[in-house]
Amino acid sequence: MKVSQKNLKDAKGILVIPFFDNGEQAVQLINESNPFLGLSKEEFNGKLGKTAFITDKFNFQKILLFGLGAEKEFQVEFIRRMAGAAARYAMSIQSKEVNVVCQTEWAQAATEGLVLASYKCITFKSKLEDYTPLENGFIVLKDGNATKEIQKGFILASSQNYVREMNEGPANVSTPEQMVEHAKKLAKENQLKIEVLDKEALKKKKMNTIIGVNQGSTRGAYLVTMEYNADKKNLPFYSIVGKGITFDSGGLSLKPAQSMMDMKYDKTGACVTLGIAKAVSELQLPIRLIACFTVTENMPSGSAQRPGDIVTSYNGKTIEVLNTDAEGRLILSDTLAYIAEKKPEVMIDIATLTGACIIALGSYRIGMYSNDDKLAKTIYDAGEQTYERVWRMPLDSEYLEMMKSDLADLRNVSDSYEAGSITAACFLKEFVGDTKWIHLDIAGVDNNLKPQPYLGKGATGIGVRLIVETLEGLTKK
Ligand code: BES
Ligand code: ZN
Ligand code: ZN
Repeated sequence: MKVSQKNLKDAKGILVIPFFDNGEQAVQLINESNPFLGLSKEEFNGKLGKTAFITDKFNFQKILLFGLGAEKEFQVEFIRRMAGAAARYAMSIQSKEVNVVCQTEWAQAATEGLVLASYKCITFKSKLEDYTPLENGFIVLKDGNATKEIQKGFILASSQNYVREMNEGPANVSTPEQMVEHAKKLAKENQLKIEVLDKEALKKKKMNTIIGVNQGSTRGAYLVTMEYNADKKNLPFYSIVGKGITFDSGGLSLKPAQSMMDMKYDKTGACVTLGIAKAVSELQLPIRLIACFTVTENMPSGSAQRPGDIVTSYNGKTIEVLNTDAEGRLILSDTLAYIAEKKPEVMIDIATLTGACIIALGSYRIGMYSNDDKLAKTIYDAGEQTYERVWRMPLDSEYLEMMKSDLADLRNVSDSYEAGSITAACFLKEFVGDTKWIHLDIAGVDNNLKPQPYLGKGATGIGVRLIVETLEGLTKK
C-alpha cells in the first residue's frame, strides 16, 4: 500500500476525523456545517475510541468520527488507533482508500496505524476470502506538509510488517536456511555487509552452546551478522542481537503439546533484527549498526543434547545444561560474547526468552534489563513514544547466585521456580563483559492471541519501532 498527503477538497470516499472529548462541541460543529445531519450527543461524545458515522451529501461516502478522549490525557498512540480503525473500516466495506484528518506532528503515527492495520498474512491461503487490502492511505492536513513524517512512519511500519510476515512462516517453511536467505536478500537490496557462519564455522570458532542446541536437529545452525555503514568507523557504533529458534520443541526436555503450538514464533528476535536492519538502512540513520542473529531449531533426537551435558561457551565459561528447553540463553551466550568482542558502544538483545516473563508482565509490557541507567531511561522513553512499552527488571547478584552450578561455572536453569525471567537475564549478563547492554524479554508480546487496535491476531513485529527510536535517542544524547 501507499500513503501520501492529500488536500481536503480532493479527498473522497471515507474520511476519518479525530475529536477530543468535548463531544457536544463536536456534534455542534458538525451540525452547524451540515444541518441535515442532525447528529445527537448520544451518538458521539468524543470519548477515547468512540466512533460514529455521518453521511455527507457532498464529497464523501462516509465520514467516521473518532474520539480521542480528554485533551490533557492525549497520547500519540491514539492517532495510531484512529488510523487503524479507519483502515479496518475501509477494508470491511471493500474500499481500497481511506483519508485520515490529522496534524503534521501526528502524521507519522497515522501512517503507522494505516500500514500496520492493513497487513494480514495471506501467503498460505489458496483463496482470498473477505480481505480487500488497502491500496491508498491519505493524510489530510489543515495546513503544512508532512512528507517526511509520512515517509518515516511508512518505513517503520513496513519494516514491522516485514517482520510479521517472516515470523508467521511455520517451521517447515521458515527454516534456519530460509532465515539466512532472508538476510542475504535484505543485505543485497539494502547494501549491508553480511557474514554467515555455518555449523562448520561455528564449530571452528568453538561456539559450542549454539552447536549443542542444534545437535538434535537435521537442519543447520547459523550466526548471521549484517552491518550497516560498515566502513564508516567514525559514526556511533551500536549492535543488536536476536534469538532465532525456528521451532522450540524443548529438545529432550520436551514441551507439552499445548505449549509447543506457538513455538514457531521463537524466532521473533531474529526477525526483529532483520526488520531493524531494514528500517535503519532505509531511514539512513547516521550510525554504524551490527544486526546479528543466531538461528537453529531446538529438537529432540538420538543426537540431541542431554540434560546434564556440560558445554564450554565462546567466552570460555562452562555451562551445565540441566534443561534443554532453556535453549535461548544458550545460543545467546555465544552470540553476545562474539558481538561484544567487536566493542560496540551499546548492545541490545531481543528474545522470546522465558514463560516467566509472561507471568510477570503479561502481554502489554516487554521485560527490560540493563547494566546502564542512562541506556535504560532512553529505551523506556522510546517505549512510551512508540507504545512498544518496556518495564525495567532487576539484575541483583543474588539472582546470579541461583545460576551457579556445582560442577560447571553456570547452570542454564536454577533449581527453583522463582524469578525465571530475571535469572535468565543474569545468565546472559555473564557474556556481555563491560559492554553497555539491554536485554529485552519479548515472550509475552511476540504474537497476539486476540486482535489489538491496529495489530490483528498473530505475529506483532514488536521491537522494530522501539529499538529504532532508541538508537535515534542515543544519537541525540
Ligand atoms: N521459548 C521459550 C520461552 C517462551 C515460552 C516464549 C512461552 C513464548 C511463550 C524458552 O525457550 C523456554 O522454553 N523457556 C523455558 C525456560 C525454563 C525451562 C527455565 C520456560 O520459560 O519455560
Ligand atoms: Zn525453550
Ligand atoms: Zn525458546
